[in-house]
Amino acid sequence: MITIRSKREIDCLRRSNQIVASVFREIKKMVRPGITTKELDREVERLIKAHAGIPAFKGYRPLGYQSEFPASMCISVNEEVVHGIPGPRKLKEGDIVSLDVGVLLDGYYGDAAITLAVGTVSEEAKRLLEITEKALYVGIEKAKLGNRLSDISHAIQAYAEENGFSVVRDFVGHGIGKSLHEDPQIPNFGPPHQGPRLQQGMIFALEPMVNAGTWQVTRLRDEWTVVTADGKLSAHFEHSIALTDGDPEILSME
Ligand code: MF3
Ligand code: CO
Repeated sequence: MITIRSKREIDCLRRSNQIVASVFREIKKMVRPGITTKELDREVERLIKAHAGIPAFKGYRPLGYQSEFPASMCISVNEEVVHGIPGPRKLKEGDIVSLDVGVLLDGYYGDAAITLAVGTVSEEAKRLLEITEKALYVGIEKAKLGNRLSDISHAIQAYAEENGFSVVRDFVGHGIGKSLHEDPQIPNFGPPHQGPRLQQGMIFALEPMVNAGTWQVTRLRDEWTVVTADGKLSAHFEHSIALTDGDPEILSME
């Protein structure tokens, strides 16, 4: 069941997502060659708490997992797709790094992700970042009354594939509200005009994961880190949005 959120609830979701947005504004300044992923995570945790939020990912354990996610931010470098665990790894010139942050404030969740270039990166990496971010916006544009859910999915896939990239199938966007993951699941692929009709007050976290090579992925033995099956690059952008009777509101944008 897809929950419709009231204006008051959307105010709460805006506040938690605005913390996520401000964390990205700060952490972007720290991403450079030589910094460790653990240092970035510690700063994110400090910033979330400074805004009276709770890191939403720390301690999170999805159904079927043996372990809890141990950090406040997922950091996924190069061929890592999502859910990378911060640690002693140092970022280096030419890397691309995906940062995924979740915040709980007053019972409502915020969730967003960005992928950044570390120093100068290859032309292909640059294009992958541009196309993945644009794919997210192409999806957001479809989040309008009159459309159905899979119009979002289809638009994201079509845009990524037209540009020579592939979309990950194993992880999806999601509803978000009083839980981090709510109905509906929102794949980044599929035929158009399927699924529920979009309604005002629905809240979605859209999050295309786009690969330079094959769409297939595998999971590392740490149970969390998802990597591309062919070792090629992957990028991830995510926004939480609220559906209105006009353009969707991007809650996680400042
Ligand atoms: N944005 C991701 C998601 O919606 C982040 C989850 S990380 C986890 O699934 F640690 F919380 F699992
Ligand atoms: Co998400």
